Amino acid sequence: MSDVLPTIPPDTSDSLAVLEKSRSTAETFGIPLAVLLEITHRCPLQCPYCSNPVELDRSGKELTTDEWKKVLSELAEIGVLQVHFSGGEPTARKDLVDLVKHASDVGLYTNLITSAVLLTREKLSELADAGLCHVQISFQGIEEGLADRVAGYKGGHRKKLEVAKWTRELDLPLTVNAVMHRQNLHQLPDIIQMSVDLDADRLEVANVQYYGWALKNRAALMPTVAQLDECTAIVEAARERLKGRLTIDYVVPDYYALRPKKCMGGWGRQFFNISPAGKVLPCHAAESITGLDFLSVRSNHSIAWIWQNSEAFNRYRGTGWMKEPCKSCEFREIDFGGCRCQAFALTGDAANTDPACALSPLHETIFKQAEAEAEGETSRFLYRNFAGGTLESENGT
Ligand code: SF4
Ligand code: FES
Repeated sequence: MSDVLPTIPPDTSDSLAVLEKSRSTAETFGIPLAVLLEITHRCPLQCPYCSNPVELDRSGKELTTDEWKKVLSELAEIGVLQVHFSGGEPTARKDLVDLVKHASDVGLYTNLITSAVLLTREKLSELADAGLCHVQISFQGIEEGLADRVAGYKGGHRKKLEVAKWTRELDLPLTVNAVMHRQNLHQLPDIIQMSVDLDADRLEVANVQYYGWALKNRAALMPTVAQLDECTAIVEAARERLKGRLTIDYVVPDYYALRPKKCMGGWGRQFFNISPAGKVLPCHAAESITGLDFLSVRSNHSIAWIWQNSEAFNRYRGTGWMKEPCKSCEFREIDFGGCRCQAFALTGDAANTDPACALSPLHETIFKQAEAEAEGETSRFLYRNFAGGTLESENGT
């Protein structure tokens, strides 16, 4: 499910498999232990904060079953241990059981990141039999009215609750992913309780990150500073109260922070994903940066070669590409200059300091803009779809 991203491990040391030098002529960068596979961009939901690119891959461009199987075998061979099947909506692919089975056969731990609305109990059971190890379901709110409106899909919330129940009945571990923004943050305490009631192991409280579709919907989604402070306090109290029962991951929106997030653990350091058409990308939003040529698994290069040697991965790796103020900043090897996609979206140059950083000359302007939008009247969504987006009607349908 495309509004949900797997958590990037906090440090590189235990998240990388060491590649053999003989595979490459360049300096060796360990391959990430977990890889995100966006097997399709098709999705029945239309979330306005979708992390997919605004230019979606159509089904005709998707890798075939055999091509994905080859990718899975190659990933296992180079030391990847875990794959996240995501999208779009991964269950929109008819071959998902086959792909999970293959992943399992080659020794990969498998996580399904799903909106759940297309699943039947029978299909979930088939996936479990094929070796599926974990299920992550996105929720848009706590009650049908708001949740279905955010997703642009009637009946979705009720179905998600049902699938979450089946997940636990089949003894699969469950993560609840809740993407939070101005229009649903007031429901956070109930979302935490819902996760406990659903017997989830983990809850991801992920505040929207503003690129792609979310950037287009920023005025309708941006929370106020007061909302965020309250959200942080609620998460802290719940972590304490639910210790040992529910793990809560918390992602804050960085517009209101003084330092940017170490996006993707640093470009080309801890993470890559594969797009529906087979492009190997340093992050899910990387194709929004123009002028970079991302190689595909259909090229005559191996995935390991692309990771280590391709121009796109090396362009923003490390610190050599940085301009001031990052270049001489003491934090440059801690946050690696923040998010390249956000820097590109907000400044037009991915090599600029991410404006989420207080040291960026644009920080103040962006911060003020966010504050003004948070206090503004806009609440209608531009729904994500293949047509480039559809504006929600005035009565919210
Ligand atoms: Fe990070 Fe660059 Fe800001 Fe320093 S100036 S804190 S390296 S983003
Ligand atoms: Fe692409 Fe942050 S989302 S580098």
